Amino acid sequence: MHRLGQEFFLPPVAPGALEKPAGKTPSSDSSLPPRKRKTLDIVPRQPYPETELVWYLWSFSVRRMVLRVLSGIQPSGRLHIGNYFGAMRQHIELQQGNDCFFFIADYHALTSNPSPQEVAKHSLDVAMDYIALGLDTEKTVFWRQSDVCEVTELTWLLSCITPMGLLQRCTSYKDKVAQGASPNHGLFAYPVLQAADILAFHSDIVPVGADQKQHIEVTRDIAMRFNSAYGEVFTIPQDYIIESVAVVPGIDGRKMSKSYGNTIEMFEPEDGIKKKVMKIVTDSTPVEDAKEPDKCSVFALLKLVAPPEELAQWQERYRSGGMGYGEAKKRLAELIIEFFKPFRRKRTELENDLDYVREMLANGARRAKAVAAETLTLARKAMGLGI
Ligand code: ADP
Ligand code: TRP
Repeated sequence: MHRLGQEFFLPPVAPGALEKPAGKTPSSDSSLPPRKRKTLDIVPRQPYPETELVWYLWSFSVRRMVLRVLSGIQPSGRLHIGNYFGAMRQHIELQQGNDCFFFIADYHALTSNPSPQEVAKHSLDVAMDYIALGLDTEKTVFWRQSDVCEVTELTWLLSCITPMGLLQRCTSYKDKVAQGASPNHGLFAYPVLQAADILAFHSDIVPVGADQKQHIEVTRDIAMRFNSAYGEVFTIPQDYIIESVAVVPGIDGRKMSKSYGNTIEMFEPEDGIKKKVMKIVTDSTPVEDAKEPDKCSVFALLKLVAPPEELAQWQERYRSGGMGYGEAKKRLAELIIEFFKPFRRKRTELENDLDYVREMLANGARRAKAVAAETLTLARKAMGLGI
């Protein structure tokens, strides 16, 4: 049961733990809300998620629920390892046994006024990255946000019930303004478009990095306001954030982000990865002294790519002294390159077949449009439009 207003922990959903009812596809249902509304038993966050995982696997397998999972990534630059570990890896894994909807948030990217060439190039780049990393376009609905115009119409309906104060409190907007961005209306209204993205598809869970938590809360707030004013149209979504990778640090120690220019891109040339890793900011503890691994960005990144036994050795070496950061950085660069190597070949194949990538996106847009159009009709009717 939803327990609103509390913090919840939703553990990873294991491959195969959830089974899909036979014959059901996201776009083929005719009775809307398109799927039977589910009640999620979400328990308050507890200190030992491992024990919760066992409970969830048991309960999901007994109830055979199908969760609709949705997320989007802005094509605002080349994707980086923070995007992968913070969000995309979960997206790829969640394809097993869940009903997944992933999209390229190109309308959101317009809020920072990129050039038309950048928008077009980065959108295709995100598509190729996703497919190369394992997104299965047969199973998962994958599209470009701007190809499904129903979401922008829904944004207007939601805008009219969204209090200004709710948007004024959004930290991502306030941060961008504090950093000197001259805000446009799109940037201010960004969370309403995001709410429409999520609600148009009756999403149950939204896997994102920690920076998106507030936007999911805003979405829940808008959905509850709408449902209580006009009747139950929307599913109330739940964020899905894995704490251990919620904030991947960049080479300057801040959160890795395209907008800070501190990223290590997944598919940049190997030499570029080495150079970036060697630039990671560390403290000035001398080689012979003991170092604190948990305060070091190099160690935080090693945690993502090093096998557990090797990670334990690095931890020991940090603590016992006699190890220079340069040595750890060299190994980190090798491990990042090795980690993404298997995906590079597929990425190169896709670069040579952009028509195939465009066709995948067009197919995905058709499937997404069918679902969004039905939700939009319901929301319009509920508000008294077109009756
Ligand atoms: P960026 O900040 O680089 O522009 P986006 O806003 O496009 O990244 O984020 C896309 C997804 O990747 C979101 O779910 C976001 O939470 C996640 N993400 C981005 N950067 C990180 C990071 N450094 N650590 C964890 N998750 C991240
Ligand atoms: N705001 C998200 C980000 O910057 C991208 C996004 C747009 C999104 N719409 C969404 C994420 C819907 C999840 C669900 O990362």
